[in-house]
Amino acid sequence: MTHLVRGRQELAAARKVLPGSVGLVPTMGALHKGHLANIRQAKARCESVVVSIFVNPMQFERADDLERYPRRLADDLAVCEAEGVDVVWAPGVPDVYPNGPAQVWVTAGELADQLEGPNRPGHFDGVLTVVSKLFARVAPDRAFFGEKDYQQLTLVRRLVADLDTDVEIIGVPTVREADGLALSSRNVFLSTEERRQALVLITALRTGRDAAGNASAVLEAAGTVLAAAEGVDVHYLELRDPQLGRAPASGPARLLVAASVGATRLIDNLAVELTG
Ligand code: PAJ
Repeated sequence: MTHLVRGRQELAAARKVLPGSVGLVPTMGALHKGHLANIRQAKARCESVVVSIFVNPMQFERADDLERYPRRLADDLAVCEAEGVDVVWAPGVPDVYPNGPAQVWVTAGELADQLEGPNRPGHFDGVLTVVSKLFARVAPDRAFFGEKDYQQLTLVRRLVADLDTDVEIIGVPTVREADGLALSSRNVFLSTEERRQALVLITALRTGRDAAGNASAVLEAAGTVLAAAEGVDVHYLELRDPQLGRAPASGPARLLVAASVGATRLIDNLAVELTG
């Protein structure tokens, strides 16, 4: 039986009786198969699993975005039940921010000024602040984050490293539709035509990866695919090292892309092996 808890005290009581290692899967709800992969990894690697469902106002720059974020607690609960999740923590805003908006924040540093950062000022500060609060309340041994949001995953790794937080961070590979489109809660906003156009993101990433040369060969191959795409407004295509520093001359790297298809902004990324 999945135990649904709301308030802090309720969570504390439920947490206290969880046996063994505890895995936390932080989410904003409206769970899809991408979230499910994180839950299943947590189930496989921990004796007890907590899923948090909280649409965090501090990471939204726009009130209308926050407003229209899908909320489907009953469906999410059924999914968690079917997956054998022990505790779903679905707090209200006052449960997470009992003193009103946080005065002290976790700031993400220069990694947040790049890639997704300029498009979403303050977003990663809001994410890291709420993630540290979730860690403080749940006290998990491990926490699971999707590679889909690669910059977020990288920043959470830095959070625990830089602030000496005793939580092991596990990255979970991106779950995709059969045709390659990365699952995202934003995909529902795509029309049939846009859904088809959106495939250019993964096609470009795979073309770059398969070029398997040095950095400029990879970027050129992926860039050519994006340049030929119709109806797609590319925000960036970047090659980095796996920690999102400068791309190495050879070895493991990460290729990241963001683009708008119609009114919907999509991101994706892929591991690439540079051969120098
Ligand atoms: P949310 O967008 O609900 O995502 C929750 C987790 O699911 C994140 O770690 C995200 O990377 C992962 N995820 C999303 N799509 C995925 C996919 N296709 N494959 C694998 N994993 C996927 O990210 C957030 O919420 C919030 O910022 C949060 C970390 C909860 C802090 O508020």
